[in-house]
Order: sequence, then structure tokens, then C-alpha cells
Amino acid sequence: MTGLTSDVVVVGAGLIGLATAWRLAADGIQVTVCDPTPGTQTSAVAAGMLAPVTEVEYGEDDLLALNLASVAAWPAFAEELQAATGLSAGLHQTGTLSVAYDVDDAAALRRLADYQRRLGLEVEELSGRDARKREPLLAAGVSGGVWVPGDHSVDNRQAVAALLRAIEVSGVTLLRQRVSHVLTAGTTAVGVQLDNGDTVHAGHVIAAAGPWSGQLDGVPHELRPPVRPVKGEVLRLRVPEAYRPALTHTVRATARGFSVYLVPRPGGELVVGATSSELGYDTRVLAGGVFSLLRDARTVLPITDELELVEAIAGLRPATPDNAPVLGPSGLDGLLWATGHYRNGVLLTPITAQIIADTVRTGVVPELGKPFLASRFGAPKVAT
Ligand code: GLY
Repeated sequence: MTGLTSDVVVVGAGLIGLATAWRLAADGIQVTVCDPTPGTQTSAVAAGMLAPVTEVEYGEDDLLALNLASVAAWPAFAEELQAATGLSAGLHQTGTLSVAYDVDDAAALRRLADYQRRLGLEVEELSGRDARKREPLLAAGVSGGVWVPGDHSVDNRQAVAALLRAIEVSGVTLLRQRVSHVLTAGTTAVGVQLDNGDTVHAGHVIAAAGPWSGQLDGVPHELRPPVRPVKGEVLRLRVPEAYRPALTHTVRATARGFSVYLVPRPGGELVVGATSSELGYDTRVLAGGVFSLLRDARTVLPITDELELVEAIAGLRPATPDNAPVLGPSGLDGLLWATGHYRNGVLLTPITAQIIADTVRTGVVPELGKPFLASRFGAPKVAT
């Protein structure tokens, strides 16, 4: 058994954990990250939409402010990551086209566009014909659209690869081990123990374990955040050369009441997502999930039938009761949450890393992060 020490130990090497580790290391802080399979869970399955406007929900104003701050932070984050590693972070600033299929879909899209305008968000309503001018392969039956110039996408797998390289070059220690429990001394977290019995003692423990964050042994039950897994199935299709580019923007569609999104990558990949079901930690890909994604994708993009189905995969979104992340103090001194990002993990990566790094450095949660404290769920009051 080995006993390591570090200034900070991060539990979880998804995008959130990796970016936070990178930010801290850039500030000269010694960081250790623990994860048995870095970057292979939710962060690898996601489609990578940066969609604060197209995915806005009624009444989620604080989350919208955080999402907008993070979409604005992505270009500099991506540039910095590329400069540090020589690898692309996979940011594609293409804009997003929301489309509606039948008249009911169009009415729902118009209501959402009204709400988006009332919030001061940049959206432009389009006829079906104008939507097809932007994306000529859309079905003739597409009845209307909304153009959202500020919503983009990230190839999340490229972002993971770049961040893994970034933490390596910045001297972060990556331990490919599961954390068995958080070590405590009284009411203070002092590190973690790994499955192989090794320990990492640290002044700060950052829990970025996505849908598993509420299950960290060693953390008292009343302090655990209410994070639950919400399964999403995603398909990766390959567009043959002859049909490229099938799409040039992210397309989000409502087709006969069902939602689907199609995210094109420059190399000819088209990511189609995503189902949503609450089945605990089950990540089996079900035939019904694949069927519904393909049914809805081909309704709005008939050429879907001609694409190669390369991958069908399922992951777990870390959801919370109010759909917003849990950031900052946990009620256990030294333990910070960076979790619960639900549908917005890729989007919220830069801003979360910044908020958590600032909190570690200053001991104070920045204003933007304050609406997302664990204490909003009734956990014991924590100092901010
Ligand atoms: N943000 C897309 C999803 O969670 O499916």
C-alpha cells in the first residue's frame, strides 16, 4: 500500500474532473486525479451540444446565466487547450437550427421562440423553406424552424483526449483506480482511499464523479447530493463521401412530438441523440431506443437511411431535482462538489473548472456559482 500526498485530489476523470484538475495545475497547485477508466463514461457518450438557448427550460434563469457564461468561455478554453497540447478541443462554432415537423411541433417551437425572445436571447424564426435553405437535405415536410446563431457543439471525445494530454503536460498525477471512500478526520475530508488500498491525502477533495457522486462512501449520508442517473442512448452514424456534408449545423428537431438532435462533425460523423430514461445504472442499449432515434432522425433528415450505423451507446446523465449542477462546499470541510451537470456537462466544463479552481484558491465561491450550492437542497448550511 502506498500513501501519496497532494494539494488536491479529484475524484473522477470525466470532462469536469479533468478540466478542473488542469485549471488548478495551471495555478501551480499539485493535483491527483483518480478514475479507473478516465474519460470513458458520460463524457464519451455525450453528443457535445453547447445549447444554452435551444435547450432553455421555463423558469431555469440561474442555470441559463451559468450556461451562457460557459458557452462564452468555450472559445478561449479551446484555444488555450490547443496551445497547451497541440490537440484540437473539438469546438465547432456552427450555430444550431431548431426545426419542427408537423403543425403541433411548429406551435411548440413558436412558443419556445417567444420565450427565448422575452429572455433577450438571439433567435430568428424561419419558414420551412428558409430552414431548408440552411440545410438542403431536411425533409420537405419540415414546417418551420428557429435559427440560433450562438449555440454550437464540441466533439466531446476530442475534448477528453486534449484534456488528458493537458493534465499530463501540466504535471497532474492520474491514478487509474476507483476511489473506495473519502477519508475524514472529524468533520474534515483529508483525502481518499483507492480500491487497491493506496491512499491520497490532500487538503481538498473534489468530487466530480458524475452520476456516482451521491454514492461516495465516507461522506455522511445527509451531506450527499441528490444526484441520480438518467440514461441516454446515442447513435454515431457515418455520412458517405457522396452525401457530405449531410448537415452543416447542429439540428434539433421536434418530429410528431418527439425530440431528437443531430450533431455533425467535420470528419463525416453524425451524432444522433438522445433518449432519456430513469433505469438506475443500466447502460444497455435497447432496441426501442435505437428505433426511436432512427425513426425521428429519418423523419426530419430522410438521408439518414443511407448512413452507416457505426455505434450505439448509452450513458448516464448526472441529474438533480432542479436540473442544475451542484458546485462548491459539501458541508464536510475540504470536500467540494463539481457534479450534477445533467444535460449540460460538456457545455459547463469551462465555467465549472473556473468556479471550482477559484473556490479552492480563495476559499470563496464566485457569485456565478452561488445559486448552485448543495445547501439549496436542504443539506446543512455551508459557509460561502
Ligand atoms: N444535452 C443533451 C442531452 O442530454 O441529451
